[in-house]
Amino acid sequence: EDGEREARPKQRLLVVANRLPVSAVRKGEETWQLEVSVGGLVSALLGVNDFEARWIGWAGVNVPDEVGQRALSRALAEKRCIPVFLDEEIVHQYYNGYCNNILWPLFHYLGLPQEDRLATTRSFQSQFDAYKKANQMFADVVSKHYEEGDVVWCHDYHLMFLPKYLKEHSVDIKVGWFLHTPFPSSEIHRTLPSRSELLRSVLAADLVGFHTYDYARHFVSACTRILGLEGTPEGVEDQGKLTRVAAFPIGIDADRFTRALELPQVQQHMRELMGRFAGRKLMLGVDRLDMIKGIPQKLLAFEKFLEENPRWHDKVILLQIAVPTRTDVPEYQKLTSEVHEIVGRINGRFGTLTAVPIHHLDRSLDFYALCALYAVTDVALVTSLRDGMNLVSYEFVACQAEKKGVLILSEFAGAAQSLGAGAILVNPWNITEVAASICYALEMPAEEREKRHKHNFTHVTTHTSQEWAETFVSELNDTIVEAQLRTKQ
Ligand code: G6P
Repeated sequence: EDGEREARPKQRLLVVANRLPVSAVRKGEETWQLEVSVGGLVSALLGVNDFEARWIGWAGVNVPDEVGQRALSRALAEKRCIPVFLDEEIVHQYYNGYCNNILWPLFHYLGLPQEDRLATTRSFQSQFDAYKKANQMFADVVSKHYEEGDVVWCHDYHLMFLPKYLKEHSVDIKVGWFLHTPFPSSEIHRTLPSRSELLRSVLAADLVGFHTYDYARHFVSACTRILGLEGTPEGVEDQGKLTRVAAFPIGIDADRFTRALELPQVQQHMRELMGRFAGRKLMLGVDRLDMIKGIPQKLLAFEKFLEENPRWHDKVILLQIAVPTRTDVPEYQKLTSEVHEIVGRINGRFGTLTAVPIHHLDRSLDFYALCALYAVTDVALVTSLRDGMNLVSYEFVACQAEKKGVLILSEFAGAAQSLGAGAILVNPWNITEVAASICYALEMPAEEREKRHKHNFTHVTTHTSQEWAETFVSELNDTIVEAQLRTKQ
């Protein structure tokens, strides 16, 4: 049977996401330097043997000239990536505007931006038009590379029109769409001027996936309440056509982390870190510098903890890695200065001649440095105000087999549904509660830490990203077979 399997050509999977898993830097007219970034999605698909995956997306750079575009396409082809070229104006209106200034905050319950809610409906409209135009550009590239039998897997809030445009191209394309953010309550989604069009476009997919059962339920009720369609346990039905809706919680490639911890360079780094933080407990935050991550709230909770627990002064350090992101969006710029101000104030207030309580870095770390840091941490603080899943919490757990540190986790992160029994769950808006949890975590007896860690470690190592990707794609294939059977009946 194995032989047969080998001989059969693998099903092609076209993975479409706004951002390619490769970042490109131009080094000359026709030379590009590429760097592969192994995020959740990439590692998920690296381990999937049943498919031959290809990536379609934006390379994150503006390439106005054809020579450059051709050279970049060639370079990317070696990494199985196909670029979608977006010019600066489209990036501004579609990516900075509609995606990151409207959909992203709305889906995380931060509401619509004031200026759009009031006067400038024109800018809302032009951003929405650019969003549709960009989605069309993605659809054109997919159609060009599509071969019969391919599965197309569309990702995230950037591409909600893609299922519709692809089905317009050909009804036979197998289309899945997966949202990596929360899908908010229908009462929130209702406020969006383009609420119906977006829902209808997503419903053109054969299978629609979310990280949690709640998000799936919110989506189905948005479809029933706003579009008047019928919600069933299977999904959403529109005049006999079913769009299947289900939850597929993502995971990580935990082995990649545990293997890294065995490398001599990582162990050396761990020893250095332990030396540097000797005599103090290490608390760690790793977040993109995004308002949904609740960084100011986390800092205020830490301040309150210091205020209330003088015995811990000088005995604990909070290391916050804040990775810069979407820096062209004004909201993100404001957040950066707000965070810096709070860090400065707290360090001024509780610092001594030799040490400060918060060590804040506006940068990312390479994979090995991050693994070392996760491994030597005593308490991880993941206090997102909302978060689709949050894989930092998973990565921390994967690296804690030795130390068995404590995870403080927001109840508004998707991960709270899977790591809830092992983590200390908190409401990140409740500074007093988070401060008390910090104290509890730092003083937790070893026995309780071990029990909690075991629960989470088992989950993280058994619900992997590979399994997630395989389940979604096989469910998509099954959905299509079932639909064909139904139409025959
Ligand atoms: C979130 C989104 C992703 C996105 C990532 C980084 O995780 O769900 O789709 O790629 O943030 O954001 P960026 O805007 O830099 O792609």
